[in-house]
Amino acid sequence: MIGKQVPGICAVLVWTILVIPAKCHTPFFIFGDSLLDAGNNLYLNGTAKITASLPYGETFFKENPTGRVCDGRIIPDFIAEYANLPLIKPYLEPGFSNYTDGVNFASAGAGILPETSPGTIYLKLQLSYFEKVTEKLKQQEGESKAAELLTNAVYLFSMGGNDYMHVAMKSTMPSLGNTNTTSQPLTSTFKKQYAITVLSNLTSVIKQVYATGGRKFLFQTVGPLGCMPSNRIGSGSKGCAHDVSVLAKMHNTALSKVLLRLQKTLPGFKHGLFDYYSALSERTNYASRFGFEEGQTACCGSGNYNGQFTCGKNGTNAYNLCSDPTKYVWFDAAHPTESANKQLSDLLWAGPLRVVGPYNAKALFDTAS
Ligand SMILES: *[C@@H]1O[C@H](CO)[C@@H](O)[C@H](O)[C@H]1NC(C)=O
Ligand SMILES: *[C@@H]1O[C@H](CO)[C@@H](O)[C@H](O)[C@H]1NC(C)=O
Ligand SMILES: *[C@@H]1O[C@H](CO)[C@@H](O)[C@H](O)[C@H]1NC(C)=O
Ligand SMILES: *[C@@H]1O[C@H](CO)[C@@H](O)[C@H](O)[C@H]1NC(C)=O
Ligand SMILES: *[C@@H]1O[C@H](CO)[C@@H](O)[C@H](O)[C@H]1NC(C)=O
Repeated sequence: MIGKQVPGICAVLVWTILVIPAKCHTPFFIFGDSLLDAGNNLYLNGTAKITASLPYGETFFKENPTGRVCDGRIIPDFIAEYANLPLIKPYLEPGFSNYTDGVNFASAGAGILPETSPGTIYLKLQLSYFEKVTEKLKQQEGESKAAELLTNAVYLFSMGGNDYMHVAMKSTMPSLGNTNTTSQPLTSTFKKQYAITVLSNLTSVIKQVYATGGRKFLFQTVGPLGCMPSNRIGSGSKGCAHDVSVLAKMHNTALSKVLLRLQKTLPGFKHGLFDYYSALSERTNYASRFGFEEGQTACCGSGNYNGQFTCGKNGTNAYNLCSDPTKYVWFDAAHPTESANKQLSDLLWAGPLRVVGPYNAKALFDTAS
């Protein structure tokens, strides 16, 4: 029996005349905020606990909203589908403990920094859950199989947006409805220092996942925060909130440098950085080019641009709900629709180098590490 390494194939087993290509099993681990949360916050106990209610989920999950902050599927759902994996489950889902396909740690409202939104699963806490998962995998699959799974796995990160919202908009957990958009101008020294703190916390978590065996990483840049419906509200008739946009761009530029440095210093570290900011900005600004009818106003919510987080909440003020979310880029005040997520996922999966690189998701899933 001969084992041979071929890209995308863990080992080719040759046994007399039988040739059996053994495809790598590639688990998918997800770290993030509301853009990637598949339902963890349903199971929190404190202030960040959410209840899933329609119209969230209506497009795909129908009567059973899952805790995703979207009318349907989010990016990890599409990527899992393209990678021939089932929907990746939230870590906190009761009774779930078979991690061979991966697990989702993302938490709506969560930041890279713990102080951004108390009560959510901030990044270091997500990392501590990941460490529990690796222990469980070792018990269940044995040391060597677990090590192989962790090395083959793809790790997706999308975080930072809430950290910048928190300082620039004085808004904690916007996805949970606490909007206090009384902003005050931030000095450029503060912005720079803050971005350094956020990125160095992110870097330390990446290094720990790498130390656990992780080699294949995907990152989304922080989105166009200033131009979300929630942030257009306070900024007059046109345009986007300023400070938070500056912070998002600073973060994204610095992130690409940090990743290139990690690639130089960590042997075998492979990554793809997806320019989520530009991809979502283009759709917001030129909706019709991408098949949408509305790029600025959310499908669900109230106030200017439907930028208030009232979607799905009963109360004295009813919220507006569009009849066809597929025509909208934004589902609620800060989260894209399933249709927008599908387009973004297609770019992350197989997009060209100017959008995602050096590897796209498909290349990382196909490569044996
Ligand atoms: C929430 O509380 C329940 C009951 O005390 C407990 O079993 C569960 O672990 C808690 N969840 C989290 C995420 O801490
Ligand atoms: C875990 O799930 C996979 C399929 O995703 C299955 O093949 C495997 O047998 C399961 N392991 C355990 C211990 O249940
Ligand atoms: C909103 O933010 C401002 C500025 O930080 C603060 O003074 C005010 O107390 C906040 N209001 C609420 C309701 O949290
Ligand atoms: C992480 O952020 C905290 C603030 O929450 C900061 O004090 C600390 O220095 C940062 N850690 C790293 C490794 O940069
Ligand atoms: C909102 O009101 C509708 C109609 O009264 C009711 O069916 C639904 O359960 C309520 N949803 C929540 C989250 O309270």
